[in-house]
Formats: sequence, C-alpha cells, structure tokens
Amino acid sequence: MRLLVCGGAGFIGSNFVRMRLQESGDEVVVLDKLTYAGREENFHDFAEEPSFRFVHGAIEDPQAVASALGGGGPLAGQPIEAIVNFAAETHVDRSIAEPDAFVRTHAQGTYVLLEAARGRDLRYLQVSTDEVYGSIEDGSFTEDSPLRPSSPYSATKTGADLLVQSYFHTYGLPATICRGSNNYGSYQYPEKLIPLMILNALHGDPLPIYGDGMQVRNWIHASDFGRAIGHVLEHGVPGEVYNAGGPDECANIQVVKRIIDLTGAQESLIEHVTDRPGHDRRYSLSSEKVRALGWEPRVRFAEGLEQTVAWYRENEWWWKPIRSGDYRAYYERQYGRTLA
Ligand code: NAD
Ligand code: TYD
Repeated sequence: MRLLVCGGAGFIGSNFVRMRLQESGDEVVVLDKLTYAGREENFHDFAEEPSFRFVHGAIEDPQAVASALGGGGPLAGQPIEAIVNFAAETHVDRSIAEPDAFVRTHAQGTYVLLEAARGRDLRYLQVSTDEVYGSIEDGSFTEDSPLRPSSPYSATKTGADLLVQSYFHTYGLPATICRGSNNYGSYQYPEKLIPLMILNALHGDPLPIYGDGMQVRNWIHASDFGRAIGHVLEHGVPGEVYNAGGPDECANIQVVKRIIDLTGAQESLIEHVTDRPGHDRRYSLSSEKVRALGWEPRVRFAEGLEQTVAWYRENEWWWKPIRSGDYRAYYERQYGRTLA
C-alpha cells in the first residue's frame, strides 16, 4: 500500500514504518512535526529507502497535510491509499501540566486530517488508546464500554475518536480506530515508565514510583501493536473500533523490580513519590474483535522487557543526546521537588 503515516517519527509510529517497509513492501510518506518526542534519528536505518519520504510539518496545518498527500520526492504522482494517524502528544503527566498542545493536536489536527481524507478516495485509521475508557477494577474493556477518560491526554484522544466516528457516520469516510494498551519497546522516549526506569537504573538514579505502585497496566510490545494496526488497516470494517491489548498485566512496582533484576541495580533506588492527580488504577483490554481478524500478540512481557533493556544498553547513541538535552529541564520540573 501507499501510506501517509502521521506522527511516524515517534516511538510506535517509527517502529510501524520500519515494519511496513521491511515486511509489507509498502511505500510510506511520514508527516511529523518533530516535537520533543519525534526524532529523525528514528529513521536512521531506512531514511534513504526509495519507498520512504519524510515531510516535516504539523497535522493541524492544511498546507503541510496537502503537501504530504500530494507529492514530490520518490513517491511523486502516486496517490496515497490510506492515512494512519499516530500524531499526538502522548504523555499524561505533560497533559496535566500543560494541556494546550494536546487540545490543538488531537482536536484541530485530527479535524484537518479528516477534512483532507474526505475529499479523496482513501482509508483513514486513527491510532487510539485504552485510556479513553478510564480505569477498570476487574475484567476488561470491550469496544462497547463507555468512554470515561480521566486526564487531559485521554479526554482529547477521546474527542479525536468521536470526531473520526462522526466523519464515518456523516460523510461515509471509511475510517477505523485501533485502541492499544500501554506500549513498550525500542525507541520509546524516556519520559514513560519503562524507558525512564531502565535508564535511571543503568545510571544508579532514583526510581520514582507514583503512590503505592499497585497501578496495573496491560503491556503490549510495540511490534504487536503495529501488527494489530496493520490488520485493522487491511481487514477492519469501516466505522468500527478495534481494541489491541497485550498478553500480560503487571503492577508498576513489579515492572520496576523486574527492571532492577535485569539491570543489576539496587532495590534501594526505589522512591515512592507523590501520586499523579487523577491516576487511573488499572487498564485492561479485551481484544477478541481484532483477534477475529487473525491477529494475536506474539511477545510475552517477560521476554519483551528483557529485549527492551538490552536495546537501551546497546543504543546509548540514541538516548544520550535526549538525556543531556531539554529532557533534563522536564525531569527537574516533574521530579525535582519530590525526589530526595
Ligand atoms: P510519541 O510521543 O513517541 O510520538 C508522537 C509523534 O507525534 C512524535 O513523532 C511527534 O513529533 C508527533 N506529533 C506530535 N504532535 C504532532 C502534530 N501536531 N503534527 C504532526 N506530528 C505530531 O508517541 P507514541 O507512544 O509513539 O504514540 C503514538 C500514538 O499511539 C499516539 O496517538 C498515542 O496516543 C497512541 N498510543 C500510545 C500508547 C503508548 O503506550 N505509548 C498506547 C496506546 C496508544
Ligand atoms: P506512563 O508510562 O506515563 O503511561 P500511562 O500513564 O499512559 O499509563 O505510566 C505508566 C504507569 O507508571 C502509570 O501508572 C504511571 C506510573 N509511573 C510512575 O509510577 N512513575 C513514573 O515516573 C512514571 C513516568 C510513570
């Protein structure tokens, strides 16, 4: 297929693009604003591929979207067949501190992409999250569960999902939504739990656990989520939502203890710090619907976490510039007051 992948310079998007170029023989245009989380380094092994083109721009900018859909470069003259939208502000803690960019990218940005899509003959896939359902004590969310987002991140992602569904119902846009659980793997920006804990453990820095650390997440390896998105893109029914949850659930404190074991760090590095406001206790997805399309997760959490720790150990070139740049200022703002 010929794909426009928005937000393809980020963690899950760049893993998805790599997989599609290597395994599906797709041609891919990436449109990405290159926020703090988007990095051209994530294209290091495929930037020169003839079937790949990068356009630097924001999804809320209609001209950038038109230029990414239109042409120039190696894919000139070939119509795009599908838009896959990963572009988002993705960190809950940043959405609590500064929600502004979340509203702009998720509401206005998704709207501009949908407008561009409805004037053309193409499919649209919105990448979404289990956080739109809110927290669940027991059992798992299905696609019919009520939407009860808790944070500015999840509320604005919910708004984007509803806008996508409105374009299906109102204009007949062949749009699908794929909602993933917490992803982990290579190239994840170290503000999120797993890469933050791996790098802190490798450096002997404190491991800040919010509250009691008994919050549970349903971990999915980014390769499994990327394959689920591919299944929905190719076999999903327009207008439908598909959940893609990982095979394992784990409490945060157990995740951190496994990382301590894998890195050889001291358990005394764990520090329980002030809890996140409005912190969702547990996420869990039922993925029966996407399984019926032929998908199933391949990577168990224990194995995927070991591979992820090994990747961060071996790829200092990737994370060193991040840890010494603007990230330090973010880290100070987020943790400076609470960490001893
Ligand atoms: P990320 O923060 O690593 O990457 C986001 C990318 O979007 C970056 O490259 C960034 O530059 C780009 N971007 C941000 N605003 C943009 C804009 N206005 N225009 C163009 N590009 C813009 O995020 P990720 O973890 O790779 O998440 C990708 C998608 O998957 C998001 O939609 C997120 O909501 C969803 N998701 C993430 C997870 C997770 O655990 N990380 C789980 C489920 C769903
Ligand atoms: P995160 O990676 O931010 O993903 P999300 O909020 O989208 O689930 O956080 C995962 C879990 O880890 C969540 O329960 C919050 C917790 N957490 C900590 O305890 N300490 C931290 O420093 C971070 C970043 C997260």
